Amino acid sequence: MSVSKTGVMETTTADVPVKQSFGARTARHYKKWWWAHLIIFVIVVLVVALPVVYVAYPKIAQHDVSASTLTVNSMILSNPSPDGFHLEQVQTIGSHSSYHPKIYSFDAAVSLAGAAAAFATVRVPTVKSKDGVKVDVSQDVDLSDTAAFGGFSTAIMLNEEIEMNIYGKPKLQQGSLPKVTVTYNKTVTMKGLNKLKGFDVVEFQILTNATTSRNMNGTVYIPNPSVLTLYMGNVTLNLAVNGTTMGQTYLEDLVLKPGNNTVPMSATVQELQIANALILGGDTYKDGVMPFVITGNSSVHNGKELPYFTEALKSNNLTVNLNVTEALAKAGINL
Ligand SMILES: *[C@@H]1O[C@H](CO)[C@@H](O)[C@H](O)[C@H]1NC(C)=O
Ligand SMILES: *[C@@H]1O[C@H](CO)[C@@H](O)[C@H](O)[C@H]1NC(C)=O
Ligand SMILES: *[C@@H]1O[C@H](CO)[C@@H](O)[C@H](O)[C@H]1NC(C)=O
Ligand SMILES: *[C@@H]1O[C@H](CO)[C@@H](O)[C@H](O)[C@H]1NC(C)=O
Ligand SMILES: *[C@@H]1O[C@H](CO)[C@@H](O)[C@H](O)[C@H]1NC(C)=O
Ligand SMILES: *[C@@H]1O[C@H](CO)[C@@H](O)[C@H](O)[C@H]1NC(C)=O
Ligand SMILES: *[C@@H]1O[C@H](CO)[C@@H](O)[C@H](O)[C@H]1NC(C)=O
Ligand SMILES: *[C@@H]1O[C@H](CO)[C@@H](O)[C@H](O)[C@H]1NC(C)=O
Ligand SMILES: *[C@@H]1O[C@H](CO)[C@@H](O)[C@H](O)[C@H]1NC(C)=O
Repeated sequence: MSVSKTGVMETTTADVPVKQSFGARTARHYKKWWWAHLIIFVIVVLVVALPVVYVAYPKIAQHDVSASTLTVNSMILSNPSPDGFHLEQVQTIGSHSSYHPKIYSFDAAVSLAGAAAAFATVRVPTVKSKDGVKVDVSQDVDLSDTAAFGGFSTAIMLNEEIEMNIYGKPKLQQGSLPKVTVTYNKTVTMKGLNKLKGFDVVEFQILTNATTSRNMNGTVYIPNPSVLTLYMGNVTLNLAVNGTTMGQTYLEDLVLKPGNNTVPMSATVQELQIANALILGGDTYKDGVMPFVITGNSSVHNGKELPYFTEALKSNNLTVNLNVTEALAKAGINL
């Protein structure tokens, strides 16, 4: 029917060769060729949209993921065993992107940045990526590589700052666009224990009436500038003066929390050997003060040694100056 109409119009035009308005000609053109225009329109949409959806969108998604930041707010390692622990970690995503895609739950390999191997795989929950969004991880972690975790623990112990790498390939989705896989490779800088700088024996006394082998009690101060809470179990430290073993110190059920930790200690010390060294040392130990070198011995939880914490403790030596004359005098030994 439309064809016959067009036919009529065409005849009319031929009969009357007078100029026809541009508008009319255009209308006529579209009336006849609408289907061709539709096909061209669809092709253009596909040519433009497909690369946007399958090339530009994944690129933008990857770019935004790479540009985002991650801040670890807190990290609690509890219930440690030789091959795992319970992890509670809270972190914040930082992003300046105007897109807020959903990032699906994924397995992330966690390692000390630059280390040969990851020490654990952590399941990161599904999150909507947005500036300031908090990501909570709470799970039992199996150490895939205990040696790598020993390296991580040692790095935490010795450094003011450490870099932790989190790597995974999550699926991401923006609105109703298809899911795309992105690479999440984030290195976060965290404060470490900085060699426990500031560690001190706040007070101590030699127990003359001790009923066990532990003949010294006191309080130690352990600063923890990191956001880590570490359940370290029963910690044993060796005490020595000028290379001679003088005893051992015990920090029972040590839980290092962020900030200042003041915890009780007990020790088994060889008082007479200390007194002898003090006398033999003469002028070296002026005013009765002796430098005790504290070295790591072990970390034991529920009867099992935690090799990674033991390694970290052994990597660091501490020196505390103790007024031995005063302590011995209080215990009734006057030099
Ligand atoms: C993650 O990125 C760092 C540098 O930013 C690179 O050295 C490392 O190889 C990447 N990790 C993986 C698994 O590709
Ligand atoms: C042991 O001696 C200390 C002082 O050196 C005293 O404070 C404590 O009460 C005594 N304990 C016992 C069980 O006698
Ligand atoms: C010494 O310390 C141990 C462990 O901290 C504690 O059980 C004990 O009561 C303390 N003894 C004294 C005399 O303070
Ligand atoms: C921790 O102790 C240091 C001094 O030893 C002090 O300057 C700091 O304010 C204390 N921090 C907290 C949170 O109590
Ligand atoms: C420390 O030990 C060395 C040898 O082991 C000895 O020569 C030196 O006199 C000792 N110093 C003190 C202050 O006792
Ligand atoms: C730890 O202490 C035990 C004694 O309690 C000792 O036999 C052992 O040699 C010490 N180990 C280290 C590495 O200091
Ligand atoms: C630490 O040692 C004490 C005494 O031996 C024990 O009762 C306690 O269960 C130990 N703590 C841990 C976490 O193993
Ligand atoms: C700690 O001291 C011990 C004994 O003095 C020594 O053998 C060890 O090499 C020292 N470790 C570190 C990390 O300084
Ligand atoms: C250590 O204690 C003794 C005896 O109480 C005292 O004479 C001496 O001054 C003290 N030393 C220091 C450095 O405080």
